[in-house]
Amino acid sequence: MIESTLWHPVAASEALVADVPLPVRLLSQDFALWRDASGTAHAFPDKCPHRGTRLSLGRVLHDAAGSRLECPYHGWQFDAGGQCRHIPALPSFTPPASHAVCTHELQERHGLVWLRLQAADTTPPAFGAELDTRLRKLLCGPYEVQSSAPRIVENFLDLAHFGFVHDGWLGDRSHTALDAYRIETTPQGFVAHGCTAWQPQSNRLSTEGSQVEYRYELTGPYSAQLTKLPQAQAGYQDVIGLFVCPVDPERSRVWFRLAVTDFDSAEAELRSFQDTIFLQDQPVLESQSPKRLPLSGGEVHCAADRSSATYRRFLNERGITFGVC
Ligand code: FES
Ligand SMILES: [Fe+2]
Repeated sequence: MIESTLWHPVAASEALVADVPLPVRLLSQDFALWRDASGTAHAFPDKCPHRGTRLSLGRVLHDAAGSRLECPYHGWQFDAGGQCRHIPALPSFTPPASHAVCTHELQERHGLVWLRLQAADTTPPAFGAELDTRLRKLLCGPYEVQSSAPRIVENFLDLAHFGFVHDGWLGDRSHTALDAYRIETTPQGFVAHGCTAWQPQSNRLSTEGSQVEYRYELTGPYSAQLTKLPQAQAGYQDVIGLFVCPVDPERSRVWFRLAVTDFDSAEAELRSFQDTIFLQDQPVLESQSPKRLPLSGGEVHCAADRSSATYRRFLNERGITFGVC
């Protein structure tokens, strides 16, 4: 499965705290994350090789011999490499390699922990704004959504819903006509140039409506970003990254990475604006049937759906099978 070779976000870095194993689910499989004494994160299948107990219910131990994750049932201890180091019922026994758990690769980027299930020549999706020190970075979420990751990405790329789902916020029922936009394909996906929307309140600080231009970019099968292009007066160039974890084919965890020019507002205010917008999307997303994104017909399109059509074609070409039908 091609999805196994991709990096997926599974948790906020700050949610994986020292000494507390964290259960996560990705591509319908369960994993236990934990940090060793140096703070490096590790991922094991969330299943003890002895009797199948969830390792995420266990404890993290540190001593002179190193850091280990201890199973909650019989106390077997596994080191960062997955090797079983100690079986308390047989203290003088040296566990063989067959008693090990397998380990998975992790990375931490954009405030998130990324997991890859199968080695490959891939990197987590880019988010260039992360490196821009003029921008303030903030993670919003996770939002637990009863829908497929591709439905969520497609919704993010969709401008035509603003006047309805986000009426009075990101759009206006009386300004719903969309200008034509241009799509350029990239190695990671595509860029949609010249997307404009009439916005009554394009960000938390704006007080009057304006025509806002966006650049949308698909940065991977389950990730995207939008850049608000500078406006004459405000000079805003905020970037919002969307990172979706495909938990199950019809269940996802969503984060937004904000890189914004607003250094004045409290974090809670910025989060609350993003929460409000996404809570407007969520019931619509969860109502869509089928929950998996149809790649082989069954839905009709109009010219305003060029981004969606390009996204569906991209998933098809990449051989994506998780969350589509
Ligand atoms: S089930 Fe994990 S130690 Fe027995
Ligand atoms: Fe929306």
